[in-house]
Amino acid sequence: MKNSVYMTWAKYHASARYNLANSGILGCDLNDLTITLDDVAINGPNHEGYAPLKEAIATKYGVKPENVVPAQGTSMANFLAMATVVERGDEVLIEQPTYEPMLAALGYLGAEVKRFSRRIENGYQINLDELQQLITPRTRLIVITSPHNPSGVAINSSSMKQIGELAKSVGAFVLVDEVYRDILFEDAEPCVATLGDQFLTTSSLTKSYGLSGLRCGWILCSPELAERMRRLNDLFGAVGSVPSDTLSVAAFRQLDRLEARTRAMIEVNTKLVHSFLRAHEELLECVVPPRSMIVFPRLKHHADAQPLHDQLRQLETSIVPGKFFESPQQFRLGFAVKPEDVEIGLQHLSKVLRQLG
Ligand SMILES: Cc1ncc(COP(=O)(O)O)c(C=O)c1O
Repeated sequence: MKNSVYMTWAKYHASARYNLANSGILGCDLNDLTITLDDVAINGPNHEGYAPLKEAIATKYGVKPENVVPAQGTSMANFLAMATVVERGDEVLIEQPTYEPMLAALGYLGAEVKRFSRRIENGYQINLDELQQLITPRTRLIVITSPHNPSGVAINSSSMKQIGELAKSVGAFVLVDEVYRDILFEDAEPCVATLGDQFLTTSSLTKSYGLSGLRCGWILCSPELAERMRRLNDLFGAVGSVPSDTLSVAAFRQLDRLEARTRAMIEVNTKLVHSFLRAHEELLECVVPPRSMIVFPRLKHHADAQPLHDQLRQLETSIVPGKFFESPQQFRLGFAVKPEDVEIGLQHLSKVLRQLG
């Protein structure tokens, strides 16, 4: 298959007046950044990634620029990382449920995909015994999102280290998509790429900072893998966009302020969503991460969340039906938009849930 079913839906059908389908913080506009025209260049030396941007990313994580591969968003970062490591027919273990474009990309690359579960019953943690049973000497890569899309649950460093040891024992790598990591603020554990050379992580300025339009993404990995990725990237975009990279450098300079914007929005909305979930316990079951912009409730009395979605659309409200995460009884609820919109969206959700019974 050469397409992502979820991405097509997200582009054309997810948006609504009360958008609870979005997984990232409300997009910034130019007023949210302090910039002048001097911050932006049209052309410049960029043949292996814009050096000041690589520096800024490396500094954020305490790694070296050799460990950084800039990419067009986490999307391209994930693709580059997987395409560099995986050959056609290689075995790849990937969590279930997961962010569907990653699964689709593995299919496109001709990987032999095996799944390990992240279950609601297990708080969406990874069961190491299950992973141990699945892994073989043919396993080339293990793929994880942490914090997890769709549940928002993060895997702690000690579990990651154990997964890394398991991967190392068969010569495999572990790719961790950390695009939601910065929403954990001071609770965030060290970036997984700093735990050892068997780890690769991907992220961007999209979800936690509202700067999707810059398409500023990156991969962190060993210098050897990074070099292979840069060479592979020569087949795709070859070079990045200098206007975007220069603006991204300006954004890195004010990441603290952007983080404060995110925190202010999330803290109010988290209270709203937590109390909504408590008030609907007879209808919904949900693992509630202490910090997150998304949750993944399961309907207690219905097998399919599609009718919930369809009726919400009549009220100009959107959620993501769980079918896109191989979990039709569930739906993903995002709450990183304006508090007044979250409040009304939740009122609509409550109304339709109660109608459905
Ligand atoms: C797990 C995950 N990775 C990557 C992306 C895409 O992020 P970006 O805008 O940085 O390409 C998303 C967007 O929903 C996501 O949920």
